[in-house]
Amino acid sequence: MQIYCFFAIGTKRQTFLLYFMVDFAEKSRYSRIITYKRQVCIVFAWKEQYGSGIAEVDKQHRHLVQLAGNLYELLQLGDKVDRYDEIRQVLGELTDYTIYHFGYEEELMQKNNFDPAAFKLHQAEHAAFVHKVKLLAEQDIDADQNKVLMDALMFAIGWIEKHILDTDMKYARYLTERGVR
Ligand SMILES: [Fe+2]
Ligand SMILES: [Fe+2]
Repeated sequence: MQIYCFFAIGTKRQTFLLYFMVDFAEKSRYSRIITYKRQVCIVFAWKEQYGSGIAEVDKQHRHLVQLAGNLYELLQLGDKVDRYDEIRQVLGELTDYTIYHFGYEEELMQKNNFDPAAFKLHQAEHAAFVHKVKLLAEQDIDADQNKVLMDALMFAIGWIEKHILDTDMKYARYLTERGVR
């Protein structure tokens, strides 16, 4: 099981987001929450409900979770060392793999005659994510490295929780009902 733990205290807005995630995680079967003093620590684990029933898609989703974990590992260091090259590399990997994964899914949907209207919506959501991850990767890393890492981590988690559980499940259901594994 992959476990990721991250925490932050900062602006009121960030705190609100974290408490929202704590609430979400409390309802989840495999997540654990640890609080230490005023810091909130969320143990983020791969959950059975992320499973699409399609082996290759699940393999790719797990790899994306791993890439989010790389962001967390850098964030967790929390030292004053300049991590420019490492952050650049991790964000580059996340961007490249995101584009690869979305391309794979879109081809899979088209190959299996997934509903064209639903496909277009899905494709638009992918495009929005690619735009966002590129912005994250291209921003001025030197300005505030921890902020860059936290933003990227939040992006990745938001995607895992929402896109996989909601949007991806629509085509996964359609495909698995037609025997795609
Ligand atoms: Fe996906
Ligand atoms: Fe998708």
